[in-house]
Amino acid sequence: MQSLSKNNNDPAVITREGLRLDRPIVLIGMMGAGKSVIGRLMANRLGLDFVDADREIEEAAGMTIAEIFEIHGEDYFRDGERRVIDRLLSEKPKILATGGGAYMDERTREAIAERGICVWLRASFDVLWERVSRKSHRPLLQNPDPQGTLKGLIDTRYPVYAQAAITVDSDHISKEDMVDRVIDALKSYQEKKQ
Ligand code: S3P
Repeated sequence: MQSLSKNNNDPAVITREGLRLDRPIVLIGMMGAGKSVIGRLMANRLGLDFVDADREIEEAAGMTIAEIFEIHGEDYFRDGERRVIDRLLSEKPKILATGGGAYMDERTREAIAERGICVWLRASFDVLWERVSRKSHRPLLQNPDPQGTLKGLIDTRYPVYAQAAITVDSDHISKEDMVDRVIDALKSYQEKKQ
C-alpha cells in the first residue's frame, strides 16, 4: 500500500488496485452475507488491514457475542457496537466488516455515511439461510423459528440497508468473483464521484 500523504494529516492511500482511499470501506449486510470472508479477501487484494467489528467488541468485552447477549442483553451489545464502530471509523483506511444489526442504529448509519464508504452485500433469504443454518453462534437465531426470524429481519432491514452508497449482489457466485464485483463497484463509484 502506497501512502499519498506528505504529512500525517492526510490519511489517503492508493491501494493495490488503484483505489484512492481516505476512509474505511465499511461492509454491511445480513448475517451470512459474507462480510467477514469477503472483507478479509478484499483486504488481501487491496493491501489494506481488515477489521471485524464483532471481534473487536468481543475483545473489548472479554466475552463472546453470545455471552454478551445472554449476560447483558441486546441493548448493551448495541451500545458497545456503536462505540467500537465509531472508534474504527476514526482510524486509517481499512476494510471494516460490521455485524448485521449495526447499520440499523441511526447514529452508526450517519457516522458510516460521513466517515466511511458503505457497501451493502445483498443476498437472498435462500443464500443467507444456507449459510447461517450451518452455524449456531448467532444469538438472534437461537429460537424455535430461526427462518421466520431471518425473514423478518430481511423485511425490516433491507429498506434501511438500501441507503448504502454501494450495493453488490452476492447470490450464487464464488468468493473470488464477489471480491471482483465489490472492487469493480468501488472503482465505478469513485469514477462517478470525480
Ligand atoms: C447480528 C449479527 C451478528 C452479530 C450479532 C447480531 C445482527 O454479526 O453482530 O449476533 O443483529 O444481525 P454477523 O452479521 O457478522 O453475523
